[in-house]
Amino acid sequence: MDKRMNVSFGSQGAAAVSGEALVSYVFEPEKDGGKPVEGALDEVDKAAGGTISRVASAGELTGKKFETTLLHFVPGIAAQRVLLMGAGKREKFGNAELRRLASVAARFLKARAIKNVAFLAREGQRDAASAQAVTEGLILGTFDGDKYRTDKKNGPLESAILVGFDEPAQAGIDRGRIVAECQNFARELGNEPSNLLTPSMLADRAVAIAREAGLAVDVLDEKRIAELKMGALLGVARGSAEPPRLVVLTYTPEKVVPGAPVLGLVGKAITFDTGGISIKPADNMEKMKFDMAGGAAMLATMRALSQLKPKIKVIAVIPSTENMPGGRAQKPGDVQITMSGKSVEVINTDAEGRLILADGVAYAKQLGATHLVDAATLTGAIVVALGGVNSGVFGTNEAFTQKVLASARAAGEKMWHMPLDDDYRDQIKSTIADIQNVGGRPAGASTAAWFIREFTGDTPWVHLDIAGTAWLDDAKPWGGKGGTGVAVRTLIDLAMNFDTAPTPGSKA
Ligand code: BES
Ligand code: ZN
Ligand code: ZN
Repeated sequence: MDKRMNVSFGSQGAAAVSGEALVSYVFEPEKDGGKPVEGALDEVDKAAGGTISRVASAGELTGKKFETTLLHFVPGIAAQRVLLMGAGKREKFGNAELRRLASVAARFLKARAIKNVAFLAREGQRDAASAQAVTEGLILGTFDGDKYRTDKKNGPLESAILVGFDEPAQAGIDRGRIVAECQNFARELGNEPSNLLTPSMLADRAVAIAREAGLAVDVLDEKRIAELKMGALLGVARGSAEPPRLVVLTYTPEKVVPGAPVLGLVGKAITFDTGGISIKPADNMEKMKFDMAGGAAMLATMRALSQLKPKIKVIAVIPSTENMPGGRAQKPGDVQITMSGKSVEVINTDAEGRLILADGVAYAKQLGATHLVDAATLTGAIVVALGGVNSGVFGTNEAFTQKVLASARAAGEKMWHMPLDDDYRDQIKSTIADIQNVGGRPAGASTAAWFIREFTGDTPWVHLDIAGTAWLDDAKPWGGKGGTGVAVRTLIDLAMNFDTAPTPGSKA
């Protein structure tokens, strides 16, 4: 992880904060002749003797989304520069937009080797939630996937002072820092090449995190995986010289009420997906090192929860293996018996994520999870449907699914509810086993979800297909190319806001 950014709360006026840059944002004027410089910025402008409104009159400050206007040595302003970010339309601007805007600003300043900034809040966005969004945005924007470069670019921002926020903003800053640092950790893992992050190495990292975070950890090796009869995970692992691992991390709150819910987080961690015998084409195959992004999200979430301390007990189960076409690899048509006892006909060895999740979900249930969320870079079909914009959300329990969607909204992660009608189930009927692992091209993301559903039983379960959102193919103004750490913020919000009242009728 990058060196920690020092984010603090400043109670002085914006014009008086010294430092390399004072950052704020302007909206597009609501009506013709309206002014972008108003509210909190009016005060800054007054201190600056009207310099900023003169820039606006010159037509250089339009408020268009992500426009950047950098002014140097503005008289009356203690900071060396004033950076005004375009925020677009005010009515469309919430904390999700604020987070992104802060990331864009951080990237802009980092490119200019600026190390310390002040961020001025605007009216309506001065509370702890907004301070959290700004803190997250700044820390996320500072991330660089340059771990293996010897010619490193400019280092990250070192410090930020948030000014103009309400007093309780400090709590938001503290939360935001934990959330964003852990999301960056997930991004870093997603970027790791498969030779430097094998299943064993991923397990080692999990153990190191658990020790540092005070989480209980259990790493199951091949022998224990076999003892548990996880035939689906073992089937995928057969083709690889690297042994599989199944990582279990447990967070236990101080008070555990008997019968209280237990959240199970199951993450797909294929450290490289060649497709196996149903091998993928060479083009873009290198990207398949990110096929462990679901597992990385769970690991990062647990790391954050160990610091944020939710009231709910959380168990993360991360099945991990390579998917390789070795001499002993499973072959199309093979039948595997999963931990649950259900038999699976492996029609396509490239549909391996759902196989390892089948055993992962069954194990999370055995460990006591009463609610399940899985995250997986599962299908190309979800990429076709939703692109890189939304993650796909599938679920069996409407209330729980809505809860996850609400967390996604609160955390500023775009997610879209996808269908899981009973009718789709027909597509994964097998001629010789209980089910088969593919359902053809139509509704490919829904049939993949259905496959996992087969192993969840009555346990409320939500599946996040993050194949399109866990990786940025091209840099965006708010983030560089590579792992995105998607789902981390949503899952943290879900755990933090989980109702821990004992479920009626629970056996405890
Ligand atoms: N890891 C892939 C899914 C994927 C595809 C992620 C593209 C990101 C971008 C998964 O294991 C896979 O290969 N799925 C197949 C399933 C098919 C064989 C039914 C797919 O979606 O093509
Ligand atoms: Zn695959
Ligand atoms: Zn895969």
